[in-house]
Parts: sequence; C-alpha cells; structure tokens
Amino acid sequence: MPDPVHPTAEDIQSLPESSRPSAPVRTDTFRKTRPEIVGPETPQQPFPVYLSGAVQRGFGRGGKDLGCPTANLPDESITPMSSVCEPGVYYGYGQVSTATNGDHKLPEEDVKVLPMVMSLGWNPFYKNERLTAEIHIMHDFTSDFYGHEMRALVLGHIRPELDYTSRGQEGLIEDIETDKRVALKSLARPDYQKFASDPHFLDHTSKL
Ligand SMILES: Cc1cc2nc3c(=O)[nH]c(=O)nc-3n(C[C@H](O)[C@H](O)[C@H](O)COP(=O)(O)O)c2cc1C
Repeated sequence: MPDPVHPTAEDIQSLPESSRPSAPVRTDTFRKTRPEIVGPETPQQPFPVYLSGAVQRGFGRGGKDLGCPTANLPDESITPMSSVCEPGVYYGYGQVSTATNGDHKLPEEDVKVLPMVMSLGWNPFYKNERLTAEIHIMHDFTSDFYGHEMRALVLGHIRPELDYTSRGQEGLIEDIETDKRVALKSLARPDYQKFASDPHFLDHTSKL
C-alpha cells in the first residue's frame, strides 16, 4: 500500500499524469530557514540505497543553464531508489568507472569516490514528463563520461523537489548551491564518511 503522506516516486509514476501531485513552490521562508546539516548522525532506513548504470545524456540544461552538470541513470537502474524514496534531492557518494566499451580511460582523479547530490523526480521547474535520477558529482571532470558506468550510494534526503515561480532559474541555482554545501557538511560526519570505502565502489588504485 502506498504511504499516503510520502508516496514513493514509483507510486506517483503509476498514477495518470493528470492526477500526480504538483510539486510545492519554493518560498522565501524555505530559503531563509534551510538547515546546513540534514539527517540523523547515522544513515537510517531506507539508506544506504545502492545504484549503478551506464551514464546517459539528459537535456543538457544542467551544465549550460544551471552550472551544475548532471549524469542521468538509465530507467531500469533507478528502481532501487524510486521504489523506496519519494521524489526529492538526496546526497551520498558517486563514482565513475572506465567506459563500458573500455576504449576511453579517465584520469585517476576522475574515477575516485566523490560526494554527490542527486535529484529524483520530474524536474517540476522544467516540467519533464519522465521520472529521472540525475546525479551531480562534486568534481571538475576533465571530459564527458557518457557511456561510462556510474556507481552511487545514496545516504540521505535533503529536500523535496520544488517549483520556482518568483525568481525562476535564479532560485533553482541558489538552492542547488545550498544543496551541495549541505551534502558536504552532512557527509563529513564519521558514520557517513565511512561509506566512501564501501565495497560497492571499485578500487581503481589496485589497477593503476
Ligand atoms: C542538487 C539538485 C537539485 C535539484 N533540484 C531541483 C528542483 O528543486 N526542481 C527542479 O525542477 N529541478 C531540480 N533539479 C533538476 C534540474 O532541473 C536538472 O538537473 C536540470 O534541468 C538538468 O537536467 P538535464 O541535464 O536533463 O537538462 C535539481 C538538480 C540537482 C542536481
């Protein structure tokens, strides 16, 4: 039975488009009262959520319009997350690995386990028709990594996905900057930090 207060992304996806709940609009009070650290001292159910899949292209607005490039996971790789979590913004660790076809090698600094923020939902500001899971790894990559396998471990929820009316894109950009800061501070706690060496991630150091 779907939780009537916090339906999962999958519950919402199964509804006809016209009866999906609309995302809350971001208010000034929300902006002014955002906490700098979120979640309990130790990750709690349903976290950690383990994800992996080959990186797909999105619409490309993340890098161009928002200064925040995102890597999309294929639909079938989203289920471990969408079946247990409501749409929203989440934090954890991510890692890009060598290409699935093996012909494009990324430098050592690009294949490390790194902090990430993730958006699960329908991007209400852009009114996407499809549910997506988009991951922004907090790192300056030397090149694109479409087609490469990405692994991620989601450890906590930051906020719901919001719609932006009054200050539009500027408000979204500001919130994403805050999300990144909140993610870094929340991950700095010892019980979160230890997941950076979880066996879900590949140990590239042994092969280099
Ligand atoms: C940390 C983070 C938070 C986001 N929060 C929202 C949000 O509250 N509302 C929204 O409509 N989209 C949100 N997005 C999604 C962006 O709109 C989306 O990543 C962007 O449009 C890029 O998608 P594209 O590469 O498919 O063009 C968020 C993305 C990230 C990485």
